[in-house]
Amino acid sequence: MELMELLKTRRTYRRFDQSRPVPQDVVEDIIRSQQYASCGNNRQPLRYAVVQTPELVEKVYAQVKWAASLPPEQGTPKDGEHPTLFVAVLEDLGLRNAITGCDAGLAISNMTLAAWNKGVGSCIMANIKRTEIMEILGLDPEKVSIHSVIAFGYPTHKSIIQEVEEGEPLAYYLNENRDYVVPRHKTEAVVTIL
Ligand SMILES: Cc1cc2nc3c(=O)[nH]c(=O)nc-3n(C[C@H](O)[C@H](O)[C@H](O)COP(=O)(O)O)c2cc1C
Repeated sequence: MELMELLKTRRTYRRFDQSRPVPQDVVEDIIRSQQYASCGNNRQPLRYAVVQTPELVEKVYAQVKWAASLPPEQGTPKDGEHPTLFVAVLEDLGLRNAITGCDAGLAISNMTLAAWNKGVGSCIMANIKRTEIMEILGLDPEKVSIHSVIAFGYPTHKSIIQEVEEGEPLAYYLNENRDYVVPRHKTEAVVTIL
């Protein structure tokens, strides 16, 4: 896919074909892509936990909150629509500093793009129960904290950007096909060219 089209269509996906696991070559792309992301002073404070056994995926699934802008019956994936892979983005407590959040954003961008390049959709998730996920993954709270988790799977819906004027509602919603519509400010409204 052409880069700008890849960027435009790499949206948040929240319903997946649960019968179709993410193939290992795509998992490899996802975990390799984080290495290519820039990070402040090249400190590399991030670590990752890949969760791909169905049992563990379901345990993590139970600790994440989907689509705060929608009622659960619309925004939460139903049985058969769950993601098939989670990647937890971890911060090494010995290396973390004020810009680690920026490092995480760049790594997440790489991973979600690498996945989408192979047709695998994702949902970046920060509204999560970190203590419970730490326990499920057997992580040591003295060594790492969880920045976020990313859900992956083959999406069963589309997601469309809709340009809106400033002041118009920004909450995403489902259209008549149950595809996501994501309102976005027009470029000219947020960019000043001097
Ligand atoms: C840092 C961050 C945290 C997010 N946390 C959640 C979350 O906990 N649950 C969820 O369903 N979506 C979450 N999202 C997805 C956003 O709701 C989504 O990115 C936004 O609505 C815009 O849609 P788009 O990604 O398709 O542009 C998160 C996104 C980001 C960037």
